[in-house]
Amino acid sequence: MINPVHPIFSEHSLDAITKATGLVVICVDAAGSFGPSAKRVNRLMKGALKKMADSDIFDKMEEGDIQRFPAPLGLIADAVLLLKMKKRPTIDIARKCGANIAKEAGKSHINLFVTANSRAAQLAFGIAMRRYRFDAHKSKNSLEFGELNVFITNVDKTLKEYTELSAVVDGVFFTRDLVNEPANILTTTDFADRLISLKSHGLKVSVLEEADMEKLGMHSLLGVGMGSESPSKIVIMEWWGGGNEKPFALVGKGVVFDTGGISIKPAGGMEDMTMDMGGAGVVAGVMKTLATRNAKANVVGLVGLVENMPDAKAQRPGDVVKSMKGDTIEVINTDAEGRLVLADVLWYAQKTYKPSGIINLATLTGAVIVALGHENAGAFSNNDKLVNDFLKAADAECEGAWRMPLGAGYDKLILSRIADIKNVGGRTAGSITAAQFLQRFIEPDMPWVHLDIAGVASVKSETDFAPKGATGWGVRALNRFISDTCEI
Ligand code: BES
Ligand code: MN
Ligand code: ZN
Repeated sequence: MINPVHPIFSEHSLDAITKATGLVVICVDAAGSFGPSAKRVNRLMKGALKKMADSDIFDKMEEGDIQRFPAPLGLIADAVLLLKMKKRPTIDIARKCGANIAKEAGKSHINLFVTANSRAAQLAFGIAMRRYRFDAHKSKNSLEFGELNVFITNVDKTLKEYTELSAVVDGVFFTRDLVNEPANILTTTDFADRLISLKSHGLKVSVLEEADMEKLGMHSLLGVGMGSESPSKIVIMEWWGGGNEKPFALVGKGVVFDTGGISIKPAGGMEDMTMDMGGAGVVAGVMKTLATRNAKANVVGLVGLVENMPDAKAQRPGDVVKSMKGDTIEVINTDAEGRLVLADVLWYAQKTYKPSGIINLATLTGAVIVALGHENAGAFSNNDKLVNDFLKAADAECEGAWRMPLGAGYDKLILSRIADIKNVGGRTAGSITAAQFLQRFIEPDMPWVHLDIAGVASVKSETDFAPKGATGWGVRALNRFISDTCEI
C-alpha cells in the first residue's frame, strides 16, 4: 500500500550537488577515476573522497559497496555516499547497487549523480524495489520515504527505459502487499475485491462463486473451503494484448490461511500460513505489470481463493471428493489442500481457454524447502522447452529456480485404495508427489510448469531486493518470460 518511489530524472548539473538535500550519491569505479560530480564533491571535501578511493579500504570494497561521509561545508545534504561501481555495470550489478543505496539511505532523500552510461534506469529500479515496507498496521505514522533524484545526461532514453521497469515495480509491490496482509484482513472476498480493482488498469476480471463451482463439479476445490466462513472463489484476470494468439495461462494457489484443516498444523509457525496465497499473489502482480506496460500478449491469470479451517462443516481426513475432471480423490490429509484447489483451477483453465501453455505457482509443500531452501523455487515440468524458457527468464532476473524431476514411478505413491488417487504420498519425495498429483490434471500435450514457491514467496531475513517478509518472487521472471516468448 505504499506507492513505489517515483524517480525524477534530470539533466546532470554540478549546481544540483550543492542544492541537494538528504544524501548525495557519487559513483567511483574500481580504478578510482572520478567523473565531474565526484571531482566537485572531492574538492568540497578537501580531497577526502580521493584519499578513500586510493586507500586499501576502497580496494577491498566489492562492487556495490558504499562508504558514508558526513557532508562537507558547502553542501546542504546531510551525507555523501561513495558507491563503488563500474562505469557501465551489468544490469544485475546496477540493480544490486541501487538496492544497496536504498538500504543505506533508509528514508532519506536520495540524489544520485551518475555518468552518461551507468545504467541509471536499472539503478533506479534497484532503489525502487528495495524501498518497500509494509506498515499498513502500524498505528504510529512512520516517515514517508524521501525523494529519488537521478542526475544524468540522457534523460529521455532513461525515462523510456524506466517506464517499463516501473510497471514491474508496481506488480511486485502489489504482490508483496497481498502476501504480507494478514488473513483477517485479506479474506477471500477482500482478495477478490483487490483483484477486481485491477479493472482500472484495463484487465477483464470475473469471479466464479461457490454456486458456479458447484455447477462445474469443482468439489476438489470446494471441499477445502467447507470449514471456512469466507466463501471460496476463483478470480479470472484476462489481458488481451496479443491479437489472435492463444492465451498463455497463469494459475495460482490462493489459500488465504492454511490451518491445515482437521489435520491441523502445530501452533509454532502457523502464523506464517497467511502467505499461503503467495502463488495467487504472484499471478495477480504479473497481470498488473502486463496491463500497466500494455504488453502485446494474451495472458489469462486464474487464482483459486479459499481458506482452510477446521470446523464442524470442514472436510475430514478420509473423505472422497470428485474433481471437475471427474477423477475421485481420497483426502488423506486435509493439510495437503493446495493441490486440491489447483486440480480444479488447472482443469477449468484448460477447458475454458485452451491455452498455449500453463505455469502454475503455489506455496505447495514444506518438502520443497527441505530440498532447495529459500534460494530456489522448485520447477516441475512435462515440457523441456517451456521450462527452459522460464528458467532462462528467471536466471536473467536473478530469481532462483531449479528444475526438479517428475516421473511415472512416483504415481504409485498416490494411488488410493478406494478412490482414483489420494492427496498425499508417503514421507519421501513430498514436493514431487505433489507435482505428480497436479500433473494428473494437465492434459497430455499441454506444456506445463509447476513452480513450488513455498521457500521463496516470503522469507525471514531480508533479500537483495526486499526487506523481511514477502519478496514478490516470480513477478520479474514471469513478466520477462511473457515478453520473451508470448509477445507479438
Ligand atoms: N501451505 C503448505 C506448505 C507450506 C509449508 C508453505 C511451509 C509454506 C511454508 C501446504 O498446504 C502443506 O501444508 N503441505 C503439507 C503437505 C503434507 C500434508 C503432505 C506439508 O508440506 O507439510
Ligand atoms: Mn496445508
Ligand atoms: Zn497450504
